[in-house]
Amino acid sequence: MCGIVGAVAQRDVIEILLEGLRRLEYRGYDSAGVAVLGSDKQLQRVRCLGKVKILADAVARDPLQGSTGIAHTRWATHGQPSERNAHPHVSNDRIAVVHNGIIENHAKLRSTLQEQGFVFTSETDTEVIAHLVERELNSTNNLLEAVQKAVSQLHGAYGMVILDKQDPERLLLARSGSPMVIGLGIGENFVASDPLALLPVTRRFIYLEEGDVAEITRRDVNIFSSDGIPVTRDIRETSATYDAGDKGPYRHFMLKEIFEQPLAVSNTLEGRLNEAGVLDETFGNGAAELLKKIEHVQIIACGTSYHSGLVARYWMEALAGVSCNVEIASEFRYRKSVVRPNSLLVTISQSGETADTLAALRLGKTLGYVTSLAICNVAGSSLVRESDLAFMTRAGTEIGVASTKAFTTQLVGLAMLVLALGKSRELGVERQRELAAALKSLPGMLEETLKLAPVIETLAVDFAEKQHALFLGRGEEYPIAMEGALKLKEISYIHAEAYAAGELKHGPLALIDADMPIIVVAPNNDLLEKLASNIEEVRARGGMLYVFADQTAHFETSADMKVINLPHCHEWLTPIIYTLPLQLLSYYVAVIRGTDVDQPRNLAKSVTVE
Ligand code: M6R
Repeated sequence: MCGIVGAVAQRDVIEILLEGLRRLEYRGYDSAGVAVLGSDKQLQRVRCLGKVKILADAVARDPLQGSTGIAHTRWATHGQPSERNAHPHVSNDRIAVVHNGIIENHAKLRSTLQEQGFVFTSETDTEVIAHLVERELNSTNNLLEAVQKAVSQLHGAYGMVILDKQDPERLLLARSGSPMVIGLGIGENFVASDPLALLPVTRRFIYLEEGDVAEITRRDVNIFSSDGIPVTRDIRETSATYDAGDKGPYRHFMLKEIFEQPLAVSNTLEGRLNEAGVLDETFGNGAAELLKKIEHVQIIACGTSYHSGLVARYWMEALAGVSCNVEIASEFRYRKSVVRPNSLLVTISQSGETADTLAALRLGKTLGYVTSLAICNVAGSSLVRESDLAFMTRAGTEIGVASTKAFTTQLVGLAMLVLALGKSRELGVERQRELAAALKSLPGMLEETLKLAPVIETLAVDFAEKQHALFLGRGEEYPIAMEGALKLKEISYIHAEAYAAGELKHGPLALIDADMPIIVVAPNNDLLEKLASNIEEVRARGGMLYVFADQTAHFETSADMKVINLPHCHEWLTPIIYTLPLQLLSYYVAVIRGTDVDQPRNLAKSVTVE
């Protein structure tokens, strides 16, 4: 989704801005732009439809130079992707603005500003910000005050940076619902919507809080809370690395990230587990005591992260004996819900910036949960900062829009939460030991499973011409079927649905014919016999089956059923293990279909708007 970079320095900042945009490319966008103030104090702006490379080529053809500048990658919300809708937006060649988020009252503001003589050149909601700031500047002649007045009139979400041609060594920024960080340099300062964009120039960051407005110059940073009071925000040093530049031997980041899963899981387990179970401090200081009180867990997330929550629900109730609800964040945030006594609120997010998940957390914190726990992959993200407790998955930067290693490490985090909750409940000492040992064996099992890649690559050919696919699973494999279907539709654009296999006869069976591939997730557990009957139901109707099965289940490949045998593993781990071949299947199908695997159309890595 949209990305912002800005800089105030003594040197030319154009390459810093472009490199920052390149580092945000993984988030997904459709157009890009940059504006700088040169030594002649003139505002120079270049925008384009398409990739940052096109923008960089345009800048190379017609060089820009400037020591203060802002840049943006846009993911269209208001107005189609086009050069004229790309940011920065300007007002009267004086004010330039880049903005992430959505201004909900833009239509009303636009018509007022038009009546006052401001001329709009785009269809975006962002352009109202540029004109509003200019209008306020005309009466206050102070950029900070003008921005404070302007943002007080905005409804919606924003992270924004504003540049004034007449105040060339200052950038103003504001945050409400969309992240903004200040990167501290020596004699120069930077801003971005994601610290990743600034890692080549600094490792010291200040995260703006909700409602903050800030001004930065080369030497100073001043931050004001929403009521205009000067505030101090902590400086955080990051040890994050940016490895996006290197796909290694892999053709796509998604494939690299699929193969990184054994290491990502091993890192996520590191130092958190011993033979007896989960260590007390795994979920933060004092968490172990808090977890003893918990009688109910409410999980909230979106997309792939929601699927990990669905798996956890099976685990929590079956193993820890703790009741659990899982809800999509965009639903939870807009309904009245009943909080059971002694409930734990768990949010799950790779990015920690998903707008719906954040809003659900903020709502949840007002509802009387005992505490809130974020399971997240990005340290310093809004979700982590705003939650009482955090469990960091250590998947490393995930660049592919399709979430892979973030999902399996979330499952590992949730598995450990189940062990922690189970300690004082139904999980006896022996069972704890058994499950801890199973978790420890996981990286090796994943390595083993990835050896199936060549088999799955061959299988993918069968799907290349298909328009639809059906995924089936039972128990905790049902969410894995859902995740398999999401992956396939997301990157190959094949319509895919997942069903709990027992639901087949209640409707979807009508879809079965020779053109509908049916993918079945079939570990060797106590539901296998039931699943085998569902497989026969499909067979009897001429469907073509692809069964991912435990090698000990002895399914046989035949004319209407291809069997892919997976290594036998502990029953508890099957959701994690069986995810991998489904990720590989989607990947290879997408490659054959020639889609943009790492940045599929219309999608963004981090969904920071509603
Ligand atoms: O960063 P989050 O985990 O909060 O993101 C939630 C979803 O947008 C995300 O999981 C999405 O569904 C994935 N791109 C799917 O692969």
